[in-house]
Amino acid sequence: MGIAYDADNAEIARTAQLLCQWVELQTGISLQLTPSAKKAAIRLIVSVFSAEKKGKKTASLTDQQLEAYTLRVDKNGVTINARQAVGIFRGAQTLRKSLPTTGPVELPFVTIADEPRFSYRGVHLDCSRHYFSIAVIKQYLDLLALHGCNQFHWHITDDQGWRFEVKALPDLAIKGSVRQQTVIGRNSGLYDGQPYGGYYTQDECREIVVYAAERYINVIPEIDMPGHMQAALHVYPNLGCTGGPYPVWQVWGVSNDVLCGGNPEVLLFIKTVLGELCDVFPSQFIHIGGDECPKVRWKNCAKCQAKIRELGLKDDGHHSLENQLQTYINREVEQFLKSRGRNLIGWDETLEGGLTESAVVMSWRGVNGGIEAARQHHRVIMTPTDYCYIDYYQLKNTWNLPTAIGGYVPVSKVYSFEPLVPDKLTEEDQQFVLGSQVNLWTEYITAPQHLFYMLLPRLDAISEVQWCRPAQKDFDDFMTRLPRMMQLYDRLAVNYCHAVE
Ligand code: ACM
Ligand code: ZN
Repeated sequence: MGIAYDADNAEIARTAQLLCQWVELQTGISLQLTPSAKKAAIRLIVSVFSAEKKGKKTASLTDQQLEAYTLRVDKNGVTINARQAVGIFRGAQTLRKSLPTTGPVELPFVTIADEPRFSYRGVHLDCSRHYFSIAVIKQYLDLLALHGCNQFHWHITDDQGWRFEVKALPDLAIKGSVRQQTVIGRNSGLYDGQPYGGYYTQDECREIVVYAAERYINVIPEIDMPGHMQAALHVYPNLGCTGGPYPVWQVWGVSNDVLCGGNPEVLLFIKTVLGELCDVFPSQFIHIGGDECPKVRWKNCAKCQAKIRELGLKDDGHHSLENQLQTYINREVEQFLKSRGRNLIGWDETLEGGLTESAVVMSWRGVNGGIEAARQHHRVIMTPTDYCYIDYYQLKNTWNLPTAIGGYVPVSKVYSFEPLVPDKLTEEDQQFVLGSQVNLWTEYITAPQHLFYMLLPRLDAISEVQWCRPAQKDFDDFMTRLPRMMQLYDRLAVNYCHAVE
């Protein structure tokens, strides 16, 4: 049996090869790549859909329509048809999810016409609190691809470790990636006494970008600033308000030590880092964090206060002077990113000093930040803690579970999320919600098995939030399909949470 595809199309050839591997792993059936569509069991065909042959231009299609596909099963086998290679890839994932892992492979005759609901379908991973190898990140990306996600938000710097190589500032990764020890549990006051480190070279980052792109996933790197910078301050203490010294942080939480808002060297530092980041990551969106930046140092720093006076910032009753100083930094960064043809994303705290012109807001402290930003006609990604923080517990009874940060976000809660908040946003404002994302912070996650246990099956739930319209969603139906996915996870040898609430 074979997979037929347009041999002149290198992208489709790659998907065909991947599909061969997936089918063999899942069913034991070895398919051959074949140029002969007649005898093939599976056909991958890029063409305009028949209804479009007369008239409609591709240029007028939405991002979601560009990912559309049809999957037909009939007496001739399986045919996946799409406008673009990406649609073929998405359809191939649906085929994978339709195949059993045991017994005969029988598919009902069916025609599926499918496209995603949202253009932004993200999953985040914190690789600062704990470092995960390139091999593990590829496994993570494989799971995102299986679920039709198209954005990987990679959090690669924070107080507890700087994990991105910057060639102009080699000590940043060499020294900033290593903390001398790590607190045990939830800031118990006891330490493990073990140095902990690891960082990604630019070559490794490029390898991840290519691997993700082959799975139609964009990698959005995040350099969190001006807070969450203590690992960088360890290497360059002159960039802090007090001058340090600062250890690479050994505890969890929000550090008061942040980049100085009044030191011009800080902007030079940021631009050096982001310049190299843009060289490595082609993403249209670059995440600059902006969350949890306490202002206690800035309030007491002569340089920060002088900068506030120099900029003529005035208390307007809504935005504090220090929050406006953060917006000044964001504006500088925005201009820099614009010069590189990029756009910034910030966490919802970036609203507090006034949003910069083109900022995309990632709403995490509930959906209110996202609502406010959408009403201001800024683009928004919804990732509220209550529904989307998969570092929280997923089971109610936690007594024998590995330590998590707290909270309770079961599969059913993730599944119930509605990113457009229709009771709060008008139809016009809903257009600014690009989609949603789950976030996986790793303070308490040291091993890959634990990482995948936190991800799965909550990833299954968010993927239906991201892909399906509300009328198509049905939690009971989802639960009937989940055992099949768990069998697939067993076959892929990836860990997951067996209990589902
Ligand atoms: C965040 O969870 N601090 C964005
Ligand atoms: Zn300062």
